[in-house]
Amino acid sequence: MSQLTKTAECLLVIFLVGIVAGDRQPGFHKNTGIFPKDFLFGVATSAYQIEGAWNEDGKGPSIWDNFTHSDPSVIIDGSNADVACDSYHKYKEDVALAYNLGVKMYRFSFSWSRIFPTGYNTTINHKGVQYYKNLLKEILKYGMIPMGTIYHWDLPQNLMDDGIHWTNPAIIDVMVDFSRFLFKTYPEVGMWITLNEPHWLCRLGYSLGKGAPGITSNGKDEYKCTYLAVKTHAAIYRMYKKEFPHYKAKMAPSVDCLWIEPLTNSTEDQAAAERQRQFECGLYFNPIYVGDWPKVVKDRIHLRSMAANLTKSRLPSFTPEEIKFIRGTADYIALNHYFTTLAADMVEAPFHETSYEHDKGVNISLDPTWIVQDNGRNTIVPFGVRKVLNWIKDHYGNHEIILTEIGMTENGTTLEDDIRAAFYTDYFCNILSARYEDGVNVTGITAWSLMDNFEWMSGYTSHFGLYYVNFKDPNRTRIPKKSVKFFQKLTKTRKLKCDKPSRKWPHPVQFNMKGKPIKWKKH
Ligand SMILES: *[C@@H]1O[C@H](CO)[C@@H](O)[C@H](O)[C@H]1NC(C)=O
Ligand SMILES: *[C@@H]1O[C@H](CO)[C@@H](O)[C@H](O)[C@H]1NC(C)=O
Ligand SMILES: *[C@@H]1O[C@H](CO)[C@@H](O)[C@H](O)[C@H]1NC(C)=O
Ligand SMILES: *[C@@H]1O[C@H](CO)[C@@H](O)[C@H](O)[C@H]1NC(C)=O
Ligand SMILES: *[C@@H]1O[C@H](CO)[C@@H](O)[C@H](O)[C@H]1NC(C)=O
Ligand SMILES: *[C@@H]1O[C@H](CO)[C@@H](O)[C@H](O)[C@H]1NC(C)=O
Ligand SMILES: *[C@@H]1O[C@H](CO)[C@@H](O)[C@H](O)[C@H]1NC(C)=O
Ligand SMILES: *[C@@H]1O[C@H](CO)[C@@H](O)[C@H](O)[C@H]1NC(C)=O
Repeated sequence: MSQLTKTAECLLVIFLVGIVAGDRQPGFHKNTGIFPKDFLFGVATSAYQIEGAWNEDGKGPSIWDNFTHSDPSVIIDGSNADVACDSYHKYKEDVALAYNLGVKMYRFSFSWSRIFPTGYNTTINHKGVQYYKNLLKEILKYGMIPMGTIYHWDLPQNLMDDGIHWTNPAIIDVMVDFSRFLFKTYPEVGMWITLNEPHWLCRLGYSLGKGAPGITSNGKDEYKCTYLAVKTHAAIYRMYKKEFPHYKAKMAPSVDCLWIEPLTNSTEDQAAAERQRQFECGLYFNPIYVGDWPKVVKDRIHLRSMAANLTKSRLPSFTPEEIKFIRGTADYIALNHYFTTLAADMVEAPFHETSYEHDKGVNISLDPTWIVQDNGRNTIVPFGVRKVLNWIKDHYGNHEIILTEIGMTENGTTLEDDIRAAFYTDYFCNILSARYEDGVNVTGITAWSLMDNFEWMSGYTSHFGLYYVNFKDPNRTRIPKKSVKFFQKLTKTRKLKCDKPSRKWPHPVQFNMKGKPIKWKKH
């Protein structure tokens, strides 16, 4: 048989199997653009990024207060979140703005040092405790589900001063104590997130030093952080299930996943793409849904550690008991998704050069036809979300998935953000395709973000909000962008036109991850 005939026969078999499989599996439908009745729409925020009132009513400083105050140059515009959106005073208005979008879920985070100024449960700040009571009351008043994040990066500075942070195992107990207090005090919370984006928590804070506490220990402390983040999440989950068995609120960490396409169809690039996925989100999903680190991650870091004559791997290993303790500690998958990139294989870097990038051995780039928004801060590649949802289902099983963050940034120069409506249309249509055509159990989204806010290293230069916030105005006036109307219509009609992309995306200006324009090589 000629190669051609073989291929044709192969394709025919795949085609026939596809038809039969499609017929056999209930729940697989055409994407009609109609959202199921129980599909949840929500919006997301986080404490440090919106609350302000950094030292008011007894709040203790967090490591982000210290980080931005110590050296303003670490933030692009030299700013901090001392006032931010002033949501501490304007929370009633903010919850009403969310309700005005027609959404049914409000994601927020608890500022640890507002509740325990020293980080320990021996110092309770009653005004801080009351603030979240009031916020929850407001969210429930409008019939929305409160989705609470326990840790969105703002560790109490006092714990840091005591050496208790993401390289010290003592972090586990203090965070379990903080979490227990939250579960006892706020049974109103309808859905829990333990840690927000542990990947970026460890990369920014312990590898690149671009986030608090500003430690640069690429490929070293960042893995200690990863190890402790996974163990802390599991310890909170186990305590919750043991001590609060009557609580029904589901719990998961929110994990950020890029979608990674191989640069070419070569075996090497395909392996590189899969490696990147494992180093990015497999690092967190694998211990929870499969058990232990992803094999490729464990093997690569071990190999490079041994080749550098270390006595053990830079990636701490789990004991069999730990693997068992961690596996199964999530009730749903909380996914944050912002980016799609290309991946190519890379030549092995010298073994004495220690870094996460070298451990991965993946060369990242962007396709020239993809749109890169706002100096490289996110790409617009709508099919990426469908592919990442399928990848998660294929690797970890068909769990319920909620997109706990998805959004687009612009430079804040216009309220006519048609591009955001187009972005959400095409991403949501791909999410519906994942649900209807691929059978992925995605049940909701919380859009990042309700309003423009303090975007970490980007300060106030990055605008992800559905509402614009005037940061020059002492009142921090909120103004609806045009996409507010889009959301209102979406939540009312629960329907999108998904038969073709909502816009022909203009040819993009290309930037690399650092925001510098890049030249493209044809491939
Ligand atoms: C940050 O924390 C360190 C250690 O506690 C302290 O010495 C320093 O003064 C703090 N910086 C600011 C600006 O708060
Ligand atoms: C603080 O945590 C300990 C356990 O480590 C617990 O026994 C105690 O009740 C907690 N106190 C508060 C106020 O949550
Ligand atoms: C890889 O192969 C697929 C299927 O044959 C094709 O559609 C795609 O364009 C190829 N990609 C690249 C980058 O060559
Ligand atoms: C590891 O040790 C061997 C034997 O001493 C040496 O040849 C090699 O250069 C060392 N490698 C590194 C990366 O230090
Ligand atoms: C990564 O890819 C770029 C562009 O193709 C190339 O110039 C560069 O040498 C590659 N880097 C490594 C380390 O392979
Ligand atoms: C999807 O998840 C929801 C919530 O856990 C569950 O009720 C439903 O049965 C799941 N659907 C499928 C097809 O697994
Ligand atoms: C902001 O973005 C818009 C749309 O991409 C662009 O036309 C405009 O020049 C940008 N303005 C600034 C100040 O960067
Ligand atoms: C700020 O709010 C106060 C009280 O609501 C109002 O009197 C004042 O005019 C506002 N200032 C601006 C600049 O909007």
